[in-house]
Amino acid sequence: MSKRMFAIIACLAVLLCGCVKEAQPAADASKDNLIKVGFSQVGAESEWRVANTESIKAALSIKNGYELIFDDARQEQENQIRAIRTFIQQNVDYIVFSPKVKTGWNSILQEAKEAQIPVIIIDRNIEVEDEGLYTAHIGSDFLKEGEKAVQWLEKLLEKQGRKDKPVRIVHIQGTIGSSAQIGRTNALEQAIKRNSNWKMVTQECGDFTRAKTYEVMGAILKQTKDIDVVYCENDGEALGAIDAMEEAGLKCNVNGGVIVISFDATKLGLEYCLKGKIALDVECNPLQGPYVNEIIQKLQRGEPIEREKLIDETQFDCFTINKKMIDGRQY
Ligand code: AHR
Repeated sequence: MSKRMFAIIACLAVLLCGCVKEAQPAADASKDNLIKVGFSQVGAESEWRVANTESIKAALSIKNGYELIFDDARQEQENQIRAIRTFIQQNVDYIVFSPKVKTGWNSILQEAKEAQIPVIIIDRNIEVEDEGLYTAHIGSDFLKEGEKAVQWLEKLLEKQGRKDKPVRIVHIQGTIGSSAQIGRTNALEQAIKRNSNWKMVTQECGDFTRAKTYEVMGAILKQTKDIDVVYCENDGEALGAIDAMEEAGLKCNVNGGVIVISFDATKLGLEYCLKGKIALDVECNPLQGPYVNEIIQKLQRGEPIEREKLIDETQFDCFTINKKMIDGRQY
């Protein structure tokens, strides 16, 4: 490097350091008044998850009076436990987390309780020995979502005169052990029990991702193409399954093709619904940030809160969807 270039870089570095130093005292001073929140997100497996992260980050922003410490657990429960322990050591005011799976949280939440840090669970729910281990849960009723899906399918098949004909179903599950998977799976399994003509061809895990489902569906199609319905537990899985089926020469539609059922209702999922490739997309709302903010503000003021907040959700089908519905969506 020439001496001249070195001098320019050195000057720039000094200037930059100067800027940072000048800005620091102001930032530090205001930091004292911020509400410190540790947020452990399960990962970034889907469009839904990304929208969920953005919603929390936007609601718990500096502008709204928060200092947010974000941790991405990359789909590992151990990473979430480690992050929560770190938040406790950092003495945060609140812990927010979206649990990967339903069980295995007793000890770490006991640690948070002993440190007197309120825990707010978002999205999926958990099963603990003592309900007092967390302060509130904001999320979805996954069993209800699944029930909406199977009831819609029952009506469609009846309308199509297929009530007594065999209906062969491929079931792509989400992350095993997550309450989202458990609820949506239970609804389908109950429907299979009450509809003797519904047959489960196979049940595989797509881990809520397009890439894994594409692989899994490709392998299923090597065994059989005799499929009437593919029940995917989120939009990513539905897209991966459709990719694989189209590549294998199958058509996805309700007019003699494979009926694809999905959950989330992301913009991309709904585009597929508009094209008729996804027959039904049951909404799962990721925009939970404003609810978390509201709960924290109430707790700050010592007001009572709603311990279990289940967000209202709707559904979209290929018969009634239109472009305007998609354009109006935030995720
Ligand atoms: O827990 C919610 C589920 O997790 C969403 O359906 C899915 O897209 C996400 O990854």
